[in-house]
Amino acid sequence: MTAEQLISFARGAPSLDIVDVAGLKAAAARAFDADPAGVTAYGTSVGYVPLRKWIAEKHGVAPEQVIVTNGSLQADAFLFTHLVQAGDDVVVEKPTYDRTLLNLQNLGGKVHQVTIQPDGIDVDELRGLLENGLRPKLAHIIPNYQNPAGVTLSLDKRRALLALAAEYGFVIFEDDPYVDIRFRGEALPSMLSMDENNSVVHASSFTKTVCPGVRVGYLVGPAALIDAIAKKATNLYISPGMVSEAIVHQFCVSGDIDRSIQTVSAALAERAQVLAASIRTHIPGATFTEPDGGYFLWVDLPEDVDVDALFPVAMKKGVAIVKGSDFLLDGGKHSVRLAFSAVTVDQIDEGVRRLAEAIAEVRA
Ligand SMILES: Cc1ncc(COP(=O)(O)O)c(C=O)c1O
Repeated sequence: MTAEQLISFARGAPSLDIVDVAGLKAAAARAFDADPAGVTAYGTSVGYVPLRKWIAEKHGVAPEQVIVTNGSLQADAFLFTHLVQAGDDVVVEKPTYDRTLLNLQNLGGKVHQVTIQPDGIDVDELRGLLENGLRPKLAHIIPNYQNPAGVTLSLDKRRALLALAAEYGFVIFEDDPYVDIRFRGEALPSMLSMDENNSVVHASSFTKTVCPGVRVGYLVGPAALIDAIAKKATNLYISPGMVSEAIVHQFCVSGDIDRSIQTVSAALAERAQVLAASIRTHIPGATFTEPDGGYFLWVDLPEDVDVDALFPVAMKKGVAIVKGSDFLLDGGKHSVRLAFSAVTVDQIDEGVRRLAEAIAEVRA
């Protein structure tokens, strides 16, 4: 590896070696053979109907409760524009996915960040805000292997959140693209599956389990809400990409997706472990919680390391990171998010060495 080659801990995307390119090519051939008319025509805005049905069955809901979108970010955007108007209160996690923060701010939402703990959002802090009169339209929650903190919401907190949503009448937006990338432990039920009050709207994606280039994600919620969003989607683009969705459908029904999930999970489990070991060796003052799955490790650096100063120095040394402050309205000045998804094992130690050098330079 040359010193000039950038090692990126920035992108939450799988590296090419763990994308099943051959499986996707074969799925594409099967899609065109099986349904040439459906694949090549305009579809409708609810998405490729056989994939919509597969997703509905996966979640145990009616197909009318599902819309398939161009990536889950579009699902997020549809829901946010549908529910949130300028001046509305919204709750997000602290820290949270940077695009969630930006999109809600761009809509004029009044964003309230609630602290994340090792077992997920601090429900007591949220309850305190609600008891003091906050009436949010929605609470955006990333329940599994959270982006960027890597933590998972406990079962008790899932129950507590559902109870708060029912009591105070807000929507829980369960944004769940990482759930299947599990390294250890038992899978917890989704809040969607536990919901008895139509409080939950759920999004997920094939980006993290298949590849981002397909741009296929989806939203599951009450049929009336999905119908209203589908009407807006029709006006926006008539239908999402049928070719992509039909390929994903073939990839799912053949069972290739299960193999892909195993490949990605096994690779990322190893990368996460190597990354943690390298940080312990090269950056002794850093603290972090190792995630049980997903794509990200959140690292708190010593207080004298300012990430605004660190970022350009790290880039100069050939390592890309994301500043903790990108995920927060305030703070995060001494934290970074490291994605271990786009780096191969042989790059990790070198990447961490470069980061350690950059830290040493910034501190000096
Ligand atoms: C929490 C969360 N939601 C949504 C997305 C968007 O994913 P995509 O549009 O690729 O499905 C991401 C991507 O990193 C994410 O971390």
